[in-house]
Amino acid sequence: MQTKEITEVTEAQIAVHWQEEEYYYPSIEFIAQANMTDESIHERFSLDNFPECFKEYADLLTWDKYWHTTLDTSDAPSWKWFVGGRLNVSYNCIDRHLEKYQNKAAIIYVPEPEEETQQVLTYRELYVRVNEMAALLRDFCGLQTGDRVTIHMPMTPELPITMLACARLGLIHSVVFGGFSGKACGERIADSGSKVLVTMDSYYRNGKLLDHREKADVAVQIAANDGMEVEKVLVWQRYPGEYHSENPMVEERDFFVNDVLKNYRGARVEPVSLPAEAPLFLMYTSGTTGRPKGCQHSTGGYLAYAAGTSKYIQDIHPEDVYWCMADIGWITGHSYIVYGPLALAASSVMYEGVPTFPDAGRAWRIAERLNVNIFHTAPTTIRMLRKAGPDEPEKYNYRFKHMTTVGEPIEPEVWRWYYEVVGRGEAAIVDTWWQTETGGFLCSTMPGFQPMKPGSAGPAVPGIHPIIYDDEGNEVPTGSNVAGNICIQNPWPGAFQTIWGDRERYVKQYYERYCKNPESKDWRDWPYLTGDAAVQAPDGYYRILGRIDDVINVAGHRLGTKELESACLVVPQVAEASVVPVADDLKGKVPDIYISLKPNVEPSREVEDAVVAAIVDNIGKIARPKHVYIVPDMPKTRSGKIMRRVLASISNGTDIGDVTTLANPEIVETIRKMVQGEEEVDFFG
Ligand code: PRX
Repeated sequence: MQTKEITEVTEAQIAVHWQEEEYYYPSIEFIAQANMTDESIHERFSLDNFPECFKEYADLLTWDKYWHTTLDTSDAPSWKWFVGGRLNVSYNCIDRHLEKYQNKAAIIYVPEPEEETQQVLTYRELYVRVNEMAALLRDFCGLQTGDRVTIHMPMTPELPITMLACARLGLIHSVVFGGFSGKACGERIADSGSKVLVTMDSYYRNGKLLDHREKADVAVQIAANDGMEVEKVLVWQRYPGEYHSENPMVEERDFFVNDVLKNYRGARVEPVSLPAEAPLFLMYTSGTTGRPKGCQHSTGGYLAYAAGTSKYIQDIHPEDVYWCMADIGWITGHSYIVYGPLALAASSVMYEGVPTFPDAGRAWRIAERLNVNIFHTAPTTIRMLRKAGPDEPEKYNYRFKHMTTVGEPIEPEVWRWYYEVVGRGEAAIVDTWWQTETGGFLCSTMPGFQPMKPGSAGPAVPGIHPIIYDDEGNEVPTGSNVAGNICIQNPWPGAFQTIWGDRERYVKQYYERYCKNPESKDWRDWPYLTGDAAVQAPDGYYRILGRIDDVINVAGHRLGTKELESACLVVPQVAEASVVPVADDLKGKVPDIYISLKPNVEPSREVEDAVVAAIVDNIGKIARPKHVYIVPDMPKTRSGKIMRRVLASISNGTDIGDVTTLANPEIVETIRKMVQGEEEVDFFG
């Protein structure tokens, strides 16, 4: 494959580059039942028909008031969709289904311990519980439309119940992934200005009931240090009536939700009719700077896009049993466990725990028992399931019609196992490329009429018009297989509206680079920078090569190298830290950490351990490094910039390139020997 200079100087260089593969075609059975087999959809969603084409998605929703302007660009590049329209997300995901589907499963919850039976929440039950929780948030907490609520919860049904209760009132929820530390949660509380934190006492992970409530005390403290006083901490109980945490409840601040809810039995809360562009939620994600940023998603545009893509790309029908094995604490769970599927009246499965607990057959037993026919997961999980039990799927009697992979590039070999063994050569696969910021899919095949190609995300989805630029701003010719920075030419309804409280950063990070005229109100002048490198094959299919910025994609989750580096610097002995992505068989990428120590500090195992502890403490276990290397000095440019790229090449055993222009070229060989052998390797396992 031809690559241009730009990918040679970025982290995309160490992305997996594989060959073009042959097509696989969807089965006749799949096509016969698919929601979309009309190839003219791409024509209907062409740039000539933009932005009106998105009416087709918005019409999947029930509006209190129809909009008058499909796209308002007057505040470019903050795009406003369906202006003048009003609606409520909770109404669209619950109330409107009651007449036809009140006794149908909305959420099927599978606890991790296999002896606990699953819980089924019908649309009626979801309606009752969301109303009661909304009453509690409004009347007990005094929250009003526009207030923010931070939700730090594991995968239990109370999580979507809380989210939908917020949506009912127009409260902006900010769900923080349950695996994140209390500190990470506290920073997000402060940034979003949440007066209320919703948490849970405990949850199961890998057979252990973990104390989750303890993180709330840290979170509240960190938020307070940042000037944000949390008034109430609402604590759900994994087993109502029981409390599984070492940390005592704090009087007048902490409340058991199950107790308070008794006062709201049977309460009904009128869904608040909100403008289409009212914020629905914030989702924090890592970027190039130290602090995570709160991506603000809208009500009407977001829900329309989540519903439209769920219908046509996930191929969800109300009759389907759909299981997305992501965590709701990430954007995938928001769009494709909660909002998209529920907007379509689907039955959405939620699983509490680890896919391979207690053994490699667990996921397939769940699929068999619940008769799951649409399955959605990430390459990391696929690799893990394959490693743990390559022949396991054959032992179970389930049948998928459709499967999704999301979050990282999938190696063709892994794709083929997914297709042949998990999907039995019958299920259509979509490899969906998108981001926290984009609300929904950007590239994927349309499963009903476009063939799959292992290792390629596929062409752009309807209404998305990518363009690849080189570093100088020249357009890379379409279909040329030349790598460049992939951008989206046009706005779309699922796109985030801004970074919470930081519009300047929003413009700078996503729109400045290829902006044709900063004064312009015309969307054509504002291509959206995704931050990924990609190539487009002659057939129009895109292969995503990886990030072009300082972001590491670990097991499909985004971590900012600067976030990790600042966590290392919390350790008093550390002078400098540099974090690079290293290829990993299971997780795709994991961080390797290089540190140099302050003068007169001796390298020791204790310092390495302290660095790992600081990472886990500040961010969470998912950020755990593969190795910590204590080096005598960092390779630097003459202007003092640490050359991460050189360290990344050393970690990955790839060509280091020319380092003669560095200020201290000799250090490169010293570090290489340390890491790759020929000298004692400081190995952290
Ligand atoms: O680099 C791309 C990678 O994940 C990044 C987005 O991460 P996040 O915001 O956490 O959202 C993950 C779930 C949508 C992208 O910039 N990525 C996502 N999906 C794919 C992918 N890389 C290759 N193929 C994909 N299907």
